[in-house]
Amino acid sequence: MQLLEGEKEQILDCVKEVLIESSKKSEDLIPILQKVQAKLGYLPALAMEKIAEGTGVSGADVYGLATFYNQFRLNPPGDHQVKVCLGTACYMVGGDITLESFERRMEIREGETSPDRRYSLERVACVGCCTMAPVVVVDNEVEGKVTPTRVDGIMLALEGESGKAKESRDAEKEEGEQK
Ligand code: FES
Repeated sequence: MQLLEGEKEQILDCVKEVLIESSKKSEDLIPILQKVQAKLGYLPALAMEKIAEGTGVSGADVYGLATFYNQFRLNPPGDHQVKVCLGTACYMVGGDITLESFERRMEIREGETSPDRRYSLERVACVGCCTMAPVVVVDNEVEGKVTPTRVDGIMLALEGESGKAKESRDAEKEEGEQK
């Protein structure tokens, strides 16, 4: 995933700060990864590289640990986060087809973030609303009975919101440049 403008500096500062506060021992690797993720929202490759350098643990071991625990995310959260439930009740009524529909519409695979960072897509276990299966959580709102047709509707709504958000970001940028 390509870093945004200024993100490299932000990552380097964050890792530096977290390492200063930690013992830099390999036993502290998990809390270090947790703190960096809490600050950045995810664990970029550059952060893992710098954590490896700072703790003396190999880069492969840091990456291995980060991928072993599902509490860690290696991709940045999108502006819109879609989580598709693949718990038993949802899976039985086509949760996997719902997930595929989102993958097609977003042009990414589950676990990824779109290159423009508008969308991120994840699979989750039961979210406790089985009577509404198949269930999807869109930006923390639970949506029930999400068939492929509803996926189209959800994506159209998100595309509209993303468009508005982009327009307002562009307008702010333009205003800033004029000052
Ligand atoms: S299995 Fe999807 S909400 Fe329970």
